[in-house]
Parts: sequence; C-alpha cells; structure tokens
Amino acid sequence: MAVREILQIGHPVLAARASEIDPADITTPEVQGWIDDLIDTMRHANGAGIAANQVGIPHRLFTVEVGDNPRYPYKPRIPLTVILNPEIRFLSDRTYVGNEGCLSVPGLRGDVSRHLEIAVSGYDREGAPMEFDVRGYSAGTWQHELDHLDGILFPHRVTDPTTFCSWQVFTEFRQAAFAETVRELVAEWGA
Ligand code: NI
Repeated sequence: MAVREILQIGHPVLAARASEIDPADITTPEVQGWIDDLIDTMRHANGAGIAANQVGIPHRLFTVEVGDNPRYPYKPRIPLTVILNPEIRFLSDRTYVGNEGCLSVPGLRGDVSRHLEIAVSGYDREGAPMEFDVRGYSAGTWQHELDHLDGILFPHRVTDPTTFCSWQVFTEFRQAAFAETVRELVAEWGA
C-alpha cells in the first residue's frame, strides 16, 4: 500500500486508452496492490475518485468514494467502490451540467454535461461481476472516472470555455449557486 504520485494533464499515460484486465488476474497480489494504492492515493488527495492511469497504472480500474470531502462539500455521499473493466450504459437522454475538477488538472474547474441516468457494470475486487444503476448528480463522477481510462480529461469535454475558473474563484464566486443546483438534483433523484 502506498500513496502514489498523481500524473498531470498531458502525461502520455493519462492521454492513452488503458487496457483491459484479465478477470482471472484480479485476485493476484499485483492487481490487489494496485487497488490498495488507488484507495490510499484517492483518500490522501481528497479525491472523489481516481483512475488507475492517473497514478501510472495503464489498466482499466478506478475507485470512487465521497464522504465529508473538503474539495467537494456539496457532493452526495458515495460508499467506497472499486471497479475493474468498467462500462457505462446511458439509460436515458437526460443530462445536466456539472462543475468538475480533477486531481490531474490542478487548480482548474469547468462545466461539463453528463448523463443523469446510467448503468455501471464491471468486476469487483474479488473478481465477481457487478452491475448497478446510478441516477442523479453522482452519475457524473462515474462518467468522469471512466473517461480517464479512455484518455479523456474533463477540460476536453468543456464546451463553454468561459466556465473555466480557478478553485479559489469557484469557491468565492460560483460555489453557492452551484451547490443550489446540486441540491435540486439530489432532491429530485436522491443522489
Ligand atoms: Ni479526474
């Protein structure tokens, strides 16, 4: 277990598509070590999630967890989840615009459109298949992490460049209004 260095936007491992993991390898010490390092690094950096290629592991897995997070105080809770070979299917065409940040894009935030209703599937850390639906604001977190495994970072999805801002400016000028948007989504969807 270790806190790993987080690669930053432009790094070739972040920009490349991560490769599938053989499900038979999930319980090996090597893959279990990757999982433990991801959890340690995500928690150390107060991330809401982290993808393996953000710490230099070019394979398809990520972790998600939201508790009392100082980086995202308005985010609904998500219990710790580890997912390998993740896939996402959109369950409807409904979308929302969320303001995102990323551990690999220090200092910057921006608005990204995400689907509101998704089905997530993959394998858990015991190697068992898992599938569940996510509806509401939290759906964006899963789409953000899966994007990483395809070499896509949130700035690549920002369609209105005037929404880019620093974390300090977001906190001072935009967070209160955005937190209200999140509250409305959580009230409608429960997450
Ligand atoms: Ni990210």
